[in-house]
Amino acid sequence: MWLRNLLVPISAMFLLLVSLCNLLALPEVGDPTIPEGNEALQRGEYLVNAGGCISCHQNTTAETLQLSGGKELESEFGIFYVPNITPDVDTGIGDWSGKDFLLAMKHGRSPEGGFYFPAFPYRSYAGMVDSDVLDIAAYLLSMPAVESVVPNHETPPWLFSWMMAGWNILADLREPSSETFEGPQLQRGAYLARSLGHCGECHTPRNVLGIPDWRREFVGAELGDGHVEPIDTIALEDWGKEDFAFFLFLGMKPDGEYVGGEMEPVIEHNTSRLTEEDREALAAFFKRDANSDN
Ligand code: HEC
Ligand code: HEC
Repeated sequence: MWLRNLLVPISAMFLLLVSLCNLLALPEVGDPTIPEGNEALQRGEYLVNAGGCISCHQNTTAETLQLSGGKELESEFGIFYVPNITPDVDTGIGDWSGKDFLLAMKHGRSPEGGFYFPAFPYRSYAGMVDSDVLDIAAYLLSMPAVESVVPNHETPPWLFSWMMAGWNILADLREPSSETFEGPQLQRGAYLARSLGHCGECHTPRNVLGIPDWRREFVGAELGDGHVEPIDTIALEDWGKEDFAFFLFLGMKPDGEYVGGEMEPVIEHNTSRLTEEDREALAAFFKRDANSDN
């Protein structure tokens, strides 16, 4: 009799345990090898530019390219210190495997199974193809190792990184069903904007939990104390495709004004270093509702 009374709570506990294990388990990503050779390194370098990694990971006191981190990212959830992603084994990512890179870049998971905070835009990078992640890995591991310890994040006492397990599920629920585009140019533009360039991380508004509202993609948002301009089709109505591509190269708007704030490093380290073809693809994507003669 007593056993039967316990059956329901025991099954409930069991189910809870199983779902907890599922929640904390690492996703299956295989264990691909990181490519070698000059071509992979060149592709990796280009992708690091297109991914805007330098804006965050560049050590602000270094004079040359050095992704040893240390930059403070302030947010309403605390101060996040950008980590060292040079190949130093002790303080960087020198011993990372292909699997570690895929788990971090596309799933926000650390090699130890921990969770990253979304101050690292891994949810945008989740749309990257695996081979691009592995080319980035090849390039990062080819750079000089820099020994540099970055401070711990300063987050409120109630915030733990494992909570991101739940956050990711809530964010999944708000994720739009994937849109398909016709033609290689639009597809490339969408990939550069939504995945690599993570434009929506700043230009799309978020709810109180910091989850982006993709139904209002690119309508503008608040970032720290400042306002991020909208870049949806309505806001860009008066911009021609060429204006947009030129803006991505130089940061100058059609009215002759230069963009400032957090957009400056995006132009400097990311969009100005793309090929003409890729800037045109971004323009085609953002102006996809416009007449073809625009
Ligand atoms: C908006 C700022 C930002 C951008 C852009 C960014 N990162 Fe990061 N990255 C972070 C932060 C912050 C963390 C740490 C997150 C945490 O500790 O929870 C991180 C963590 C990482 C890690 C894990 C490092 C470790 O020691 O565990 C890797 C690898 C990484 N980023 C690579 C990249 C690459 C490659 C790019 C470009 C494609 C990139 N990041 C772009 C902010 C950024
Ligand atoms: C780190 C945050 C951040 C990211 C990432 C970002 N932007 Fe911006 N962007 C801004 C901010 C902030 C402004 C407003 C700057 C100002 O006040 O001058 C802006 C302004 C702009 C403007 C000018 C709008 C206007 O009407 O003045 C365009 C166009 C733009 N961004 C396009 C993009 C594109 C395309 C991407 C992706 C490749 C992108 N942004 C990624 C923060 C960002």
